[in-house]
Amino acid sequence: MSLSVKVGEVGFNNPCLLAAGVLGTTASSLNRVVRSGAGGVVTKSISLESRSGNKGPVISKTSCGWINSMGLPNPGVDDFKDELTQFEGDVPLVCSVFGETPSDFKEISKEITDYVDVIEMNLSCPNVEGGIISNNPEQVYRYTNEVVSSVDTPVWVKLSPNVSNIGEIALEAEEGGADAVVAINTLKGMVIDIDTQIPVLGNRVGGVSGNAIHPIAVRMVYEITKKIDIPVIGVGGINNPKTAIEMILSGAQAIQIGSAVTNNINIFKEINQGIKKYMQKKDYQKINQFRANAHKKTTNK
Ligand code: DHB
Repeated sequence: MSLSVKVGEVGFNNPCLLAAGVLGTTASSLNRVVRSGAGGVVTKSISLESRSGNKGPVISKTSCGWINSMGLPNPGVDDFKDELTQFEGDVPLVCSVFGETPSDFKEISKEITDYVDVIEMNLSCPNVEGGIISNNPEQVYRYTNEVVSSVDTPVWVKLSPNVSNIGEIALEAEEGGADAVVAINTLKGMVIDIDTQIPVLGNRVGGVSGNAIHPIAVRMVYEITKKIDIPVIGVGGINNPKTAIEMILSGAQAIQIGSAVTNNINIFKEINQGIKKYMQKKDYQKINQFRANAHKKTTNK
């Protein structure tokens, strides 16, 4: 592994990572994303046992992104280990994991720890029975601590935006020992077919991603960065250099791209080049020279 996965310390050469959920179920799609210029990749969320996911339709396009209710379909950790061993990229491989209990998370994490650079805990899936784990601050601490104390691999915790105080939740992840927080997962939403008057998704509600959630993600990364010291990885509606730079100005050390990959697999390269151009124009050598700069500025002096 040529790159440090300690975001912000040594830093990524390329801060644009693939987000969980898109092109992340096989080694060949992950390898393709790396060849297309990603600075790191996050797999689809993996559970202990295989899951077939929710009844369809599970995804629909909206006027400003996507809505999905996939239900975490995945082959289960045993089969997925074969995919992890076939990863060929020279960039960090982040495995997203999902479970129902702290001990599920611990078991999966122990299974994969030797094959991956980072474990990203998906505490924020909107499409499972039992509710979103990260909506309860006490659970965030407990789940995070269980994984952090059982593996040596860095642990990132992905948070849900479906809460009123995201900073307070992020603080629990930090206190639980997380190495970084990833924000935000999808926002709960719904679309209805006006001819049939039926909700479009089989699950009725789902997670909204893409352009619609970008300003919300920027605000939440800003609030989290104010509250905690560990790195924040920004995700939500990033689809060009401007939206990526906005996320860095709000406090993100690295960014993840999901929905926009469905239009353009070269997006990682394009955004990375755009960030570099911005840095040349402003005479910055490192992302940390402008990261979180929006915290210091306001139009009303
Ligand atoms: C799914 C998981 C997520 O974390 C999300 O934001 C959206 C969908 C899923 O597989 O259901």
